[in-house]
Amino acid sequence: MALDLVALLEQRQTRRQFEKPLDDTTLGEILWLACRNRSARPSVFGPDQESRVHPSAGAMHPIHILLARETGPWLRYDPLEHALIELPHSGASAAAGRRAASSLVELEHGTLIGLVAEPGKTAAKYEHPESLVWRDAGVVLGYLSLMAEALGLAFCPLGTTGQPYLTEYLPGSSALQAVGLAVVSAA
Ligand SMILES: Cc1cc2nc3c(=O)[nH]c(=O)nc-3n(C[C@H](O)[C@H](O)[C@H](O)COP(=O)(O)O)c2cc1C
Repeated sequence: MALDLVALLEQRQTRRQFEKPLDDTTLGEILWLACRNRSARPSVFGPDQESRVHPSAGAMHPIHILLARETGPWLRYDPLEHALIELPHSGASAAAGRRAASSLVELEHGTLIGLVAEPGKTAAKYEHPESLVWRDAGVVLGYLSLMAEALGLAFCPLGTTGQPYLTEYLPGSSALQAVGLAVVSAA
């Protein structure tokens, strides 16, 4: 895909009408363009350091992408395998997350995107990881918003974090932090 970056930056805007569901191919495209892993290397800090499409403090990449379609559980995007993985027992939380998000914007056929941070990855390298993690989440939202526009999709970040719906069903949820929601759909 060839892009006119200047034109893309000129035309990007938040689009809040989610009239058509995203098909698997287009969902794969936006995740590939904005979030995929390019390489990983073992690090002295414990977790691997990664090269993804977008930058991350210390290459620690603490942000996980979750998705909730109109029905069904949370799905986690695996940026190494470029695959979606169903998160067990998360159906009720995904539905509750969608209901909560629809108080901010009418979700219609939109796919809800959740950003979940694993602050321990950033903390393995930095003494004060808190603000780095939030900035990493902002970077991911920015990349998603631009790639959504490039693909002709509707995309809207939401002002709530997604707490508790993004993590409450997970046994190790205390090590995770919900750091943002967004909605995407075909236009
Ligand atoms: C962190 C963040 C939170 C946002 N929260 C909401 C929201 O809850 N509801 C909404 O309709 N738009 C939300 N937006 C979209 C902004 O309202 C929008 O980006 C702003 O009005 C500028 O318009 P533009 O994106 O079309 O340039 C959010 C944007 C960001 C970056």
